[in-house]
Amino acid sequence: MNKLLHLSLSVMTLPLGLVAQNQLEPAEVGPKIVAETFGQLSAALGDAVAQSGAPGALRICAEKAPQIATEVGLAHGVTIRRASQRPRNPRNVADHTEQEVLAAFADALTRRETPKAQTRLNEDGSRSFFAPIVLANPLCLQCHGVVVQEVKPATVEALRKLYPDDRATGFKLGDLRGLWHVRFPAKP
Ligand code: HEC
Repeated sequence: MNKLLHLSLSVMTLPLGLVAQNQLEPAEVGPKIVAETFGQLSAALGDAVAQSGAPGALRICAEKAPQIATEVGLAHGVTIRRASQRPRNPRNVADHTEQEVLAAFADALTRRETPKAQTRLNEDGSRSFFAPIVLANPLCLQCHGVVVQEVKPATVEALRKLYPDDRATGFKLGDLRGLWHVRFPAKP
């Protein structure tokens, strides 16, 4: 019931959010929206791993991650997704534009520079804000690191059931894991 109420409130505030976001620059608001989403996701993930270990946290992460992205997106009148060149969930596979941006982020990392967020105008008039996701927290390696050493066998087993096409292990700290894509609707 609580959840329903919360959801309907978010939907009710949607038009306001849309109007507000249209007057704001994605390059300015994008980082804040990403920080908010990432903060909520990290907190949920930390709690889940502490409570039930990495294998138990998988399911929570699988359900929570898209849910948090949807809720924060609704509150701001944008859509938020994570995309990757090596996704765990096939839904998160990078599209053409996302691949281009990921390649630019990867180039920066190869040059030992910090990848810079980008804003692009889409054909339909919407604007996209892209921010890099670089692995910076050892916690991430429990589910995205080297299999057996870091991703324990019980987690590997659970991953195999939930994500038979998983490509998101074998990463190291400092690697590009993917990107955040915040899409701002076209100006009316
Ligand atoms: C408890 C295991 C777990 C931990 C810890 C974890 N992840 Fe994930 N990660 C997942 C799962 C499960 C998915 C797939 C979510 C889905 O189905 O949308 C995922 C998906 C992702 C994606 C989306 C692209 C894809 O592969 O589908 C990114 C980016 C990502 N994780 C980054 C991180 C980062 C950064 C950290 C550390 C802050 C982290 N993850 C920690 C389990 C984990």
